[in-house]
Amino acid sequence: MPAIFATAPGKAILFGEHAVVYGRPAIAVPITQVQAKAVVTPLIPAPSGTVRVDAPGIGLSAALSDLPGDHPIAAALRGVFAALDITAPPAMTVRVTSTIPVASGLGSGAAVSVAIIRAVSAYLGQTLPDRQISALAFEVEKIHHGNPSGIDNTVIAFRRPVYYVRGEPIQPIQAGAALTLVIADTGIASPTARAVGMVRAGWAQDQAGFEARFDAIGAIANAALGAITAGSVAQIGRLMNENQALLEQIGVSSPEIERLVKSARSAGALGAKLSGAGCGGNMIALANSTEDAELIAAALRSDGAVHTLITRIE
Ligand code: PMV
Repeated sequence: MPAIFATAPGKAILFGEHAVVYGRPAIAVPITQVQAKAVVTPLIPAPSGTVRVDAPGIGLSAALSDLPGDHPIAAALRGVFAALDITAPPAMTVRVTSTIPVASGLGSGAAVSVAIIRAVSAYLGQTLPDRQISALAFEVEKIHHGNPSGIDNTVIAFRRPVYYVRGEPIQPIQAGAALTLVIADTGIASPTARAVGMVRAGWAQDQAGFEARFDAIGAIANAALGAITAGSVAQIGRLMNENQALLEQIGVSSPEIERLVKSARSAGALGAKLSGAGCGGNMIALANSTEDAELIAAALRSDGAVHTLITRIE
């Protein structure tokens, strides 16, 4: 069998993170400049059923049979074999690499799962539809954090901007105008499970207050869907700022995020907010043009961003 590879992009949440866990709508876009990659090659000579996993980025080189059930890479592999009804796959090596920073709100976990599931199913001659790849990756997301909304695996498996409500079919978005985004990393790793757990604790203490904020975030995501479709870039920026204020109220912002948000706005961003779990990780800023984006990215770096990237959503 020839080697097969598949890639999966990162993602950014434009609107609605955290509230999406509680059933409100959210909007996410794929980020293609960063990606996870899985390469499947035959392993000869080895008996069928032998699967080796190499993930040099995390120092992993092991037999699948030696990995515990809650290891995300093992879970992705076992999930795809089960879905394809394969008990003893042909001997293979699965090599996983990724340029998506981990624990920073760019969907690295979901992208690794999607790349593995896509590559292995193709290698076995049974290309799966995006919907099923997303569903299998969702099962792995549950290991990363117990109660995922499903937005990461969805936007990454479908590779297009989506309006997403938990448990509902995805709604792809057609942007009325290109969006130029600057993504900046605070450099502070922030595991999603921790931020989601903090919000859960806040919600448990003040359900009415948190539900009202989730409603407000959901209303912003709905307004943003209209603004994105209409290409009203200035309005999208204003809505991002409103969303950031609510994320601050539910406690998932941080001094580092706010410093970068302020920096981006001062450098001419139309709007800026954290993206993903928050408490660190990445923030996003909306720019009027690529030239503006370069200026904003430079300002962000001089104000402490450890890494920036510019992406256009067409
Ligand atoms: O930090 P990320 O990229 O895993 O994004 C998490 C988004 C949340 O809304 C905070 C959680 C979720 O499951 O939707």
